[in-house]
Amino acid sequence: MNTVATIQEKILKLKKEKDICILAHSYEAHEILEIADFTGDSYALSVKAKSVPQQTVIMCGVRFMAETVKVLSPQKRVILATPEAGCEMADMMDKAMIEAVKRDLPDYTVVAYVNTTAELKTICDVCVTSSSAVNVVKNIENDKILFIPDANLGAFVAESLPQKEIKLLDGCCPIHASVSIGDVIKAKESHPDALLLVHPECRSDVVKAADFAGSTAEIMDYARKSTAKEFIIGTELSIAEHLQYECPDKKFYPLSDKLMCKNMRLTTLVDVYNAVCGGEGEEIVLSDETITKARHCIDEMIRLNHE
Ligand code: 13P
Ligand code: SF4
Repeated sequence: MNTVATIQEKILKLKKEKDICILAHSYEAHEILEIADFTGDSYALSVKAKSVPQQTVIMCGVRFMAETVKVLSPQKRVILATPEAGCEMADMMDKAMIEAVKRDLPDYTVVAYVNTTAELKTICDVCVTSSSAVNVVKNIENDKILFIPDANLGAFVAESLPQKEIKLLDGCCPIHASVSIGDVIKAKESHPDALLLVHPECRSDVVKAADFAGSTAEIMDYARKSTAKEFIIGTELSIAEHLQYECPDKKFYPLSDKLMCKNMRLTTLVDVYNAVCGGEGEEIVLSDETITKARHCIDEMIRLNHE
């Protein structure tokens, strides 16, 4: 048995013995997805986190994802497998900054992309993920919306909901925003028959040039179900790799090799093994006040994500 399979076997045995649930975001490496109890986009993981029976949850992803699990399951031990794994977009805006903006926009509903700290969520009204954003914002009664921190996802929502007056700030995912329309033209020239599937964290002109825009899970779902045979994938490089593995009869090309999130790639199988053994990884600790206020924002997302 090779080393990867040996470590995987040990993780599977230990997590069963210790009653641990492993959640992994779809950007994680294939060998981590294989030993996870649940994988998916950030919406699926946040909803799943509420119902898992285990008392300990290990998150393979970045810090805001582990905080979201803790907020939704405060009685559980939530461990971030790799404590250094942050999100560059989530770190762009803090509570003090948004409190100042709110003072100038008192009649706006503040919508926070889930890629924000739990502390910032405490002063926001509703949370969204990339897969729920358009629907949730549509169902908010107030038409005046301050959307933070991602101006690109916010522009995607604004484009879909012209009836809403959506104010944006200057935040973005530096990885997705690094892709230009020039990269799109080059990729389409190289693969003229391929469909272009992108994440709405990409710039507006890139999203408009796409055949489909959606969350990581929605992109994967679209590609699996499509009768097309070739796809250019405009999100973290791992998604094209996972799809190629899953659908060997189709061809997947990354939109740009700039699409590499170093934070999402930090977690190794050994990190997960050490976290399952105990003592490694970081237990997420949030005050009761942070949990209560941030939870309101996430619960509102789940409540408003209806037809
Ligand atoms: P999803 O909501 O598609 O999981 O995306 C999270 C993320 O960080 C994308 O960069
Ligand atoms: Fe954050 Fe961008 Fe990485 Fe997603 S890809 S985790 S938004 S830095």
